[in-house]
Amino acid sequence: MIKGILHLLPTSEILAQEAAKFIQQRITDTLQQKKRCSISLSGGNTPRKLYQVLASEPYLSSIPWNQIDFFWGDERCVPPDHPDSDYLMAKETMLDAITSRWQPGIYRIETEHSPAEAAARYEKTLREYFSDSSSGFDILLLGMGEDGHTASLFPFTQALHETKRWVVENYVPKLQAWRITLTAHFLNRAVTTMILVSGTNKKKVFTFIQTPNASPEAFPVLTIQPASGELHWFVDKDAFSENVSG
Ligand code: 6PG
Repeated sequence: MIKGILHLLPTSEILAQEAAKFIQQRITDTLQQKKRCSISLSGGNTPRKLYQVLASEPYLSSIPWNQIDFFWGDERCVPPDHPDSDYLMAKETMLDAITSRWQPGIYRIETEHSPAEAAARYEKTLREYFSDSSSGFDILLLGMGEDGHTASLFPFTQALHETKRWVVENYVPKLQAWRITLTAHFLNRAVTTMILVSGTNKKKVFTFIQTPNASPEAFPVLTIQPASGELHWFVDKDAFSENVSG
């Protein structure tokens, strides 16, 4: 079995609903301890439904979005208005609705600069934001690709070996593209990490990462091992299989 707490949901719609409920509770718990709550968003398709749920009632009115600071766990090296932009996906599915009523903090990765410059700028932002804390994001949302990548930590790429920097530019040969990604070194400082896995196309990799043969180098989602925080997997039935022989 995978490390962490498994939330097994019957459908992707119910996964989105349950994840939204869980996030609201974690925000409430966080804001009892501190004034602001940092949430790192993931890109891709899986979180779209979750973002739409959070941007609708009851969450749109009941969560104090003024006390939330949004970050991203990774970004494609495209302008913020490009269809592939993780920032644009979150803006269209959630942030436009939230910012029509509230003023959350939004710390996007500034991809108008070169990969190296964007990574350096984002690292500076994070180090300033988390300067008085040894932990990281209060809530970290991650997905998992069919190849076992998470954020833009892709199999056998340079970013997997970074132990000092919090943000790196990562060339992904199979995409023939640069990505900006937070490193496991920083991601694992999160207080609550949620990995969302949905769809039959993730079943094979979800099964394999439960076996002893799966290495973090080949399946970077396995580098997500929170130092002291909680790890929660939100998996729907289409993606789930318990690798009993694992
Ligand atoms: C991205 C994401 C990436 C994503 C996985 C899964 O920028 O694409 O951060 O890590 O979570 O690729 O993507 P899907 O949800 O589309 O399967």
